[in-house]
Amino acid sequence: SNSAGEHIVITQRVAEARLLPDRTTTIWGYDGIFPGPTIRARRGRPLTVTMRNELPVPTSTHLHGGVTPADSDGFPMDLTTPAGYSPAPPHQHGAGARVHEVSRDYRYPIGQRAATLWYHDHRMDFTAPQVWRGLAGMMIISDDEEDALPLPRGDRDLPLLICDRAFEADGSLRYPMRDMSMASPGAGGEFLSGLFGDVILVNGVAWPRHEVANVRYRLRLVNASNARRYRLGLSSGAELVQIGTDDGLLAAPVTLPEVVLSPGERCDVLVDFSAYPIGTEVTLRNGFGAGPAGEIMRFVVTRKAKDDSRVPARLSRVPVLTRADAARVRQFDFRFGGGRWQINNRPYDPAGSLAAPRLGTVELWRFTSDFHHPVHVHLGHFQVLSRSGRSPEPWEGGWKDTVDVRPYEAVEVLVRFAGHRGRYMLHCHNLEHEDMAMMANFDVV
Ligand code: C2O
Ligand code: CU
Ligand code: CU
Repeated sequence: SNSAGEHIVITQRVAEARLLPDRTTTIWGYDGIFPGPTIRARRGRPLTVTMRNELPVPTSTHLHGGVTPADSDGFPMDLTTPAGYSPAPPHQHGAGARVHEVSRDYRYPIGQRAATLWYHDHRMDFTAPQVWRGLAGMMIISDDEEDALPLPRGDRDLPLLICDRAFEADGSLRYPMRDMSMASPGAGGEFLSGLFGDVILVNGVAWPRHEVANVRYRLRLVNASNARRYRLGLSSGAELVQIGTDDGLLAAPVTLPEVVLSPGERCDVLVDFSAYPIGTEVTLRNGFGAGPAGEIMRFVVTRKAKDDSRVPARLSRVPVLTRADAARVRQFDFRFGGGRWQINNRPYDPAGSLAAPRLGTVELWRFTSDFHHPVHVHLGHFQVLSRSGRSPEPWEGGWKDTVDVRPYEAVEVLVRFAGHRGRYMLHCHNLEHEDMAMMANFDVV
């Protein structure tokens, strides 16, 4: 650490991990672990991450939710190849293609407010299998505004990266299709809804049990699954106090029985264990899951402790955008057609661009769909305005970067383009859909 900012080095490598209780699993991990190291960043302190690639495949690393210059955003063809890699990666010579050998620096200005972000692989055509193998981790940004609040901290602030995976009997990860670029409805019809696993992992451990004191905890929930949506609530029926969403704190807390998280979304909630006698088990459940997929993890109240946290009545200053703020309206239709998942009837064109919003403006983007498509926008954070003419869900307040667009819905969001000019993308965060071409570029001008 110095005045020029922070610098860390992360090495992507093949490693053995203990995801299941009784066997080991070969993963591709940032620093050889899954999830990758939780990066702690501070608003106003720029961070450089030197990313080294010791995997057998090219990679591109994207900071999801990051307000990042385009050349560090993890564009799908902005690849870092292993030493002596051949053959040349596909798309190497296309628009936006850049190749770094073995290592490169990603520069993150960290000018944005406190939030729970995550980073993951974004390689063209192979994001889904490479994330499935372990290339995902969290970044927690803190700032002065959040530090001033009496929220739970230290070991009472739990970042929880949730994902589902499938395993072979020997413990290896099962991803049925090795090469998603070969996907077509004929060849891969069973993956059209994305890939699901029957094991739920939290921070890389199957259905963990976590010991807690009888106090309030902060859970930073990240849905890092390829395709699975969760309806999260507590087995005790106790309410969740939501304090934040994808890109930071809400204006004020919201009390809810459950929250729904689609792939890529985050939710920050407070859970109070003070009402439970020592020995009580409370399960974080998934109302959408059947059988084992209906459980995420267990908390066991094992000790008494003093609690000096509180639920503040006000959390943050969040300006509320309105329809009148939108400089223009654009529609993006997420739909199956021509044998693939497309946006506005087009498969991803690395050289094309569907929109050119101006830096410093707000636009109203309307997302329509034929299926579940968690729509994610790079760079621009947004507020959800409406769902097919109705109000957004109660857990969708504040600044977001991913929205759960459900079948045949029209979801309106107000996107603010701030921070950087350049080429960014929007896409479906069902990672199989993303690899099957449901992406588009836009240029902030
Ligand atoms: Cu989390 Cu472009 O993705
Ligand atoms: Cu992103
Ligand atoms: Cu989709």
